[in-house]
Amino acid sequence: MELKEAIKLRRSARTFESKPVEREKVEEMLRAAMQAPSAHNQQPWEFLVVENPDKLKELSELHKYTAPLAGAPVGIVVLMNRKRLKVEAFWQQDISAAVQNMMLQAVDLGLGTLWMGVAPKEEYMGKAKEMCQLPEDVEVFGLFAVGYSDKNRVKDRFDASRIHWGSYS
Ligand SMILES: Cc1cc2nc3c(=O)[nH]c(=O)nc-3n(C[C@H](O)[C@H](O)[C@H](O)COP(=O)(O)O)c2cc1C
Repeated sequence: MELKEAIKLRRSARTFESKPVEREKVEEMLRAAMQAPSAHNQQPWEFLVVENPDKLKELSELHKYTAPLAGAPVGIVVLMNRKRLKVEAFWQQDISAAVQNMMLQAVDLGLGTLWMGVAPKEEYMGKAKEMCQLPEDVEVFGLFAVGYSDKNRVKDRFDASRIHWGSYS
């Protein structure tokens, strides 16, 4: 699949087939994530891959929009390790770039994904950190559901009025 096709096709999947996801595919997604740009090339990301249905159920109760995780074969908890930071301010931007790569790679592999926000809400970050039993220096950026799904389909959102060529008027 060409990149432009994956970009157009990607949509949020909130239901998934029960078919398991091959670990090689998850690794391919994480390989794409780790290719992302980051401030000072700090690459602050780490990933906790969750396949245990009980753990997925527990994580699905983090907040009221995380329920789809309970029905996914794989969850990826995207993490930030403070020990990897060279410049604190940009870590959420670094990891956002990584997760977009990850989600586009998933489309190419025939998979659906859902991004469920955690950072910067401290309440969610604290709860998720506890649920995942993370060390002091590691924080949760977001939860991602991954699985086979037929939700990826084109929805054109192009809006020429959002583009300001040369000046804003
Ligand atoms: C930072 C962020 C947090 C999000 N959190 C949730 C969430 O908690 N639960 C959910 O169902 N969708 C969540 N979404 C998905 C958005 O609702 C979805 O991307 C948006 O409605 C556009 O739909 P699309 O992904 O199908 O193009 C989140 C997306 C982003 C970027």
